[in-house]
Amino acid sequence: MKFVFVVTLFALAYAKHEEYIGWKSYYVGLESKDQFKAFWPMVDKYELDVLSHPILGREGVLLVKPEHQAGFILEAETEGIALKVHSEDVKSQLDYDDQVIELQRISSMMRNAGRQLPYDNYQQIEAIDDYLDYIGATYPDVATVVTAANSFEGRPIKYVKISTTNFEDHSKPVIFIDGGIHAREWISPPTVTWAIHKLVEDVTERDLLDNFDWILLPVVNPDGYKFTFTNSRFWRKTRSTDQHVLSGICPGVDGNRNYDFFWNTVGTSNTPCSDVYAGSKAFSEVETRVVRDILHEHLARMAMYITMHSFGSMILYPWGHDGSLSHNGLGLHTVGVAMATAINQNSLSHFRSYVVGNSALVLNYPAAGASEDYAHQIGVPFSYTFELPGLSNTLLGFNLNPRYIQQVCNETWQGLIVGARRAGDLFRNKKL
Ligand code: ARG
Ligand code: ZN
Repeated sequence: MKFVFVVTLFALAYAKHEEYIGWKSYYVGLESKDQFKAFWPMVDKYELDVLSHPILGREGVLLVKPEHQAGFILEAETEGIALKVHSEDVKSQLDYDDQVIELQRISSMMRNAGRQLPYDNYQQIEAIDDYLDYIGATYPDVATVVTAANSFEGRPIKYVKISTTNFEDHSKPVIFIDGGIHAREWISPPTVTWAIHKLVEDVTERDLLDNFDWILLPVVNPDGYKFTFTNSRFWRKTRSTDQHVLSGICPGVDGNRNYDFFWNTVGTSNTPCSDVYAGSKAFSEVETRVVRDILHEHLARMAMYITMHSFGSMILYPWGHDGSLSHNGLGLHTVGVAMATAINQNSLSHFRSYVVGNSALVLNYPAAGASEDYAHQIGVPFSYTFELPGLSNTLLGFNLNPRYIQQVCNETWQGLIVGARRAGDLFRNKKL
């Protein structure tokens, strides 16, 4: 019985990820401004998929389609750009990941009959939604679940409001954290649900609950997230088909290029088939409008906004379109460093240490229309993009092994504790 079951499981796994047959992934190391200049046009030319941005002194990771491997390698060599194979066979590594995830799911289902959301595995959107509803029903005094809107394909976009004073004490700063705008960045949603867990179910930092109001939105882009489980593991965008004549063939918009901040000016694309397609206009996507409306609703007392992405172990802050610093540049950097320090102290020795800085400068890549910039522009003093850790170290699977989800959630929470306290103090003293 067990044997038949396992065989079926493997057969199912092998039928998937066919679109990635022949794909390879590479570490790319860029050592000078000139190499960055030479590299970005290659991203377009060879349709490279940047999974982790290369930064000075630290390799990034790229996916390369079979038809572009020879051309890309040759041009990279000519430019003196260092490439190293990360995965020889992306499809089989994804098959392996599926097996790990599926076996983990079955064993944790047996262990976990209760309503806790497991952190030993990546969760389907339905399980995350169920958990949010469970939190709202079980802790009505502090937690309220809101369905802000339905996604393009009709899935609820849910968030949790956490407050000991029902959001009525207007002297409290608000902290807003979202995740899952980029569908494939699977480590992002659990860090947000873990924050819910630590504020409602397992309160060890009572001051964070008493002194702040929280808004936690684990999956901004449920359609894309679902699609990464059912169809394409490396899907990034929304799934809208109403943006362009070509959107039927190439659906979706990059949510993090869709905000009304120097929209569609730099680091974006007008082509719906691009992974950084900005959409037909700013806020064309219902998913980004949900985030925008939350920001505006609580703007007067919103001290901090954080959007969870992966991967790269970075804390990035405005302005991302041109690398200039805002009036609160010093505050952004100081609080960012405090968060990164706390995370690093609680991290594992084989995880990369966090880098903190201006988005465009750290990445050597300006990009407009991002949520972190929009939030800051409208007046949120502390606004960050987190690039969480996310690279598999085992070299067996492609993605971060689910055994590290709990670790990433713990260490990220340690950063959020420090960030909330520091941002809260500065906000209350209005020393911004
Ligand atoms: N990886 C993120 C993205 O490409 C980085 C965003 C950085 N922020 C910015 N304002 N450009 O969306
Ligand atoms: Zn992202």
